[in-house]
Amino acid sequence: MIRHFLDFSEIDAAEIRKIIACAGWLKQDRKAGRFSAQLANKKLAMIFEKNSTRTRVSFEVAMLELGGQAIALNGNDLQLGRGESISDTAKVISRYVDVMMLRCHSHEKLQELAKNSSVPVINGLTEFSHPCQILADILTFEENMGSLVGKTIAWVGDGNNVAHSWIQAATLLGCNFRIACPTSLAPLPKVVEWARARGGNIVITTSPEEAVAGANAVITDTWVSMGDPDADAKISLLKPYQVNAEIMKKATPDAIFMHCLPAHRGEEVTADVIDGGQSKVFDEAENRLHAQKAVLLWCLGIL
Ligand code: CP
Ligand code: NVA
Repeated sequence: MIRHFLDFSEIDAAEIRKIIACAGWLKQDRKAGRFSAQLANKKLAMIFEKNSTRTRVSFEVAMLELGGQAIALNGNDLQLGRGESISDTAKVISRYVDVMMLRCHSHEKLQELAKNSSVPVINGLTEFSHPCQILADILTFEENMGSLVGKTIAWVGDGNNVAHSWIQAATLLGCNFRIACPTSLAPLPKVVEWARARGGNIVITTSPEEAVAGANAVITDTWVSMGDPDADAKISLLKPYQVNAEIMKKATPDAIFMHCLPAHRGEEVTADVIDGGQSKVFDEAENRLHAQKAVLLWCLGIL
């Protein structure tokens, strides 16, 4: 069985826990200057059909620090950009490398790549989900607040790909997840139904105050995701969903603020919140590196 990392709906809670724990050990090792070439001679191909700073750099550094190498490819520069099929692309690239990562629009394209690949495929973000991000988020949350189990996460803003992965992770790992969003920007019903069918405690409201009341973390994301049509309409719908000091005051006094970045100060979050004492966004960004290493080790059967 090839160990793809595509979506939390396809991974057991115990495996997710293993990956997060490994990310934590790898972080300690790196701080102590301990590196081990567990991926010597291994190659990662990363295909980007959308922009990236964190995902691209953290995966590349992860491979280098584990003794392997990464190749970053722009989807448009490949023959894929001229119409070569995703299945042929998968069959060819998986003859060269040991693991692949794809950032693309449609989640079905990622699934098609995985179906035709002879090596593990990692989701580097699709319009449906962004599971690598949530591994880093959970590591960050637990570093600051202790176990996620039974805690309450409040999401204020668009019910997007990152929110979907949070809903899935919250369900699998046992925390409460509340999302405040305009009705038309709620997470996809199939994600919420999947979560509730598994006992997930998912609250969807239009009130940011209700979502954040007593929460242990407040999270938001950009109002306009990559590839979103009609940015202006989304921005006007989301204006009442800004995370600001007033909103943060409704959470627990020690609540942390998280954002996967890139951020737009003055839109989804005010500068005083994202640059303030409760914000953990740069630890969260750093934790992408440790989480990426753990995902690579897991996909390659070393973890
Ligand atoms: N958070 C995140 O995935 O960032 P990039 O788009 O920069 O990779
Ligand atoms: N929701 C955002 C996340 C970026 C990391 C997007 O898809 O553009």
